[in-house]
Amino acid sequence: MNLPAVPQLHPPRLPNPETIRQSLGSLVLSQIRGRVASVTGDAVTVQGMTAPLGAICELMPPDAKPTLARVIGFDDTRPILAPMEAISALAAGDRVRLVSRSLTLRVGDSLCGRVIDAFGRPIDGKPLSDDLVRVSASRAAPDSLDRPPIDEPLQTGVRAIDAMLTCGVGQRLGIFAGSGVGKSTLLGMLTRGTTADRIVIAMVGERGREVQEFMQRALGAAGLKRSVVVVATSDKPAAQRLSAAWTATAIAEKFRDEGHRVLLLVDSVTRFAMAQRELGLAAGEPPTTRGYPPSVFNMLPQLVERAGRTTKGSITAFYTVLVEGDDNNEPISDTVRGLLDGHIVLNRKLAHRGHYPPIDIPESISRVANHLVTPETYQATLGIREHMVQYQTSEDLISIGAYRSGSDPRVDTAIAMRDPINDLLRQDANEITPIADSQARVQKLHQAASAALAQLNQPQAPAPKPA
Ligand SMILES: Nc1ncnc2c1ncn2[C@@H]1O[C@H](COP(=O)(O)OP(=O)(O)OP(=O)(O)O)[C@@H](O)[C@H]1O
Ligand SMILES: [Mg+2]
Repeated sequence: MNLPAVPQLHPPRLPNPETIRQSLGSLVLSQIRGRVASVTGDAVTVQGMTAPLGAICELMPPDAKPTLARVIGFDDTRPILAPMEAISALAAGDRVRLVSRSLTLRVGDSLCGRVIDAFGRPIDGKPLSDDLVRVSASRAAPDSLDRPPIDEPLQTGVRAIDAMLTCGVGQRLGIFAGSGVGKSTLLGMLTRGTTADRIVIAMVGERGREVQEFMQRALGAAGLKRSVVVVATSDKPAAQRLSAAWTATAIAEKFRDEGHRVLLLVDSVTRFAMAQRELGLAAGEPPTTRGYPPSVFNMLPQLVERAGRTTKGSITAFYTVLVEGDDNNEPISDTVRGLLDGHIVLNRKLAHRGHYPPIDIPESISRVANHLVTPETYQATLGIREHMVQYQTSEDLISIGAYRSGSDPRVDTAIAMRDPINDLLRQDANEITPIADSQARVQKLHQAASAALAQLNQPQAPAPKPA
């Protein structure tokens, strides 16, 4: 006997309370409306509404598509907005609407391998997948008590760094160099050589051509697979360039919260500071050193403090700093150097000699390296550094032939060790060296140098007496 089929019961699917809250929130926010009062350069003053600093609004000219803009300051109580997209035909009296209290974007694992803009929108021609969750681009840095110490090395694959300036999981370093010295190429080497499992790259204010070049040459298909690239080229409005660095940081934070070891690369933090300089001045802030308004110096620590290690995961970050006129003491490099746990200085003279990557070891430092390597390796790096400094100090004499071999055993050792040290430090951009090999090589070099110095220091046997 056939029994009638039992109808399948489907429990009612209740909407997610968070989705309801968000929809209601955006409904309420969208009712907050004002009008353009004035437009001065990149600053749009709005009347009839208020919005918090950093909020995102929509400028709605009647005959053009709406444009996103960010609140960058206030003129008395009236918000001043900076457009985040190219703006056309905006006039006083045009409508303005509040969109969200801060910039938000959708993030998740499926962003790996993708190229997006500062809003999190894809610019590689493919749609985003549905598994992404919305997060705010602005978030507070982790509490200082929620930050375990940096005690484990992270392989970069670059011998000069792994051997001489060992970088730790969760460390934040700056790469300081003048234009065209090799910052981006070094970042490319890091993306290929690192053992981090997620990479987030912010390209802030780069030329359009450089983005393609970086993607194809430096990153390659294999590198892109575990990377998210956030791009805001130099032709984009300042508010969008600025946001690219926040957006990349927010993506790295999401991966860190999921327990990943993230490598965050920001190229460059100088262009981030320059974007904020434009916005700060447009909002009426006074210019201070080199025209940078105070908000720039307030924003830099907020950016770099968001990286680092937490109890869940880690963000190891490299920020490139463009040193104008190779002046290492200009205000942005000075400030950034003080905020980070280490700096890698690239030297134009080394690049001219074809010494790549042009890392100036004596000028660079990793402030936590001594906690990351064995005491023997640390002693070896100090020893090699000493020989390099010794050579530099006597270089002028040596190059004009005024140094007489045998007059100082330390200089003789430095001269003898120069080529083997350079062999360790020079590396082809496509070569990756495991960190253990780099550290073994530095120890071997140190042993060889110590043996050579000991031999030179041995008292000379007295000359035989004439019969
Ligand atoms: N490791 C390397 N091996 C060989 N050549 C290199 C290396 N690094 C840099 N170069 C040379 O230097 C040029 C500039 O390098 P790169 O674009 O990395 O510099 P940058 O400091 O990022 O420049 P910018 O300031 O314009 O952003 C490259 O086009 C290449 O010719
Ligand atoms: Mg570059």
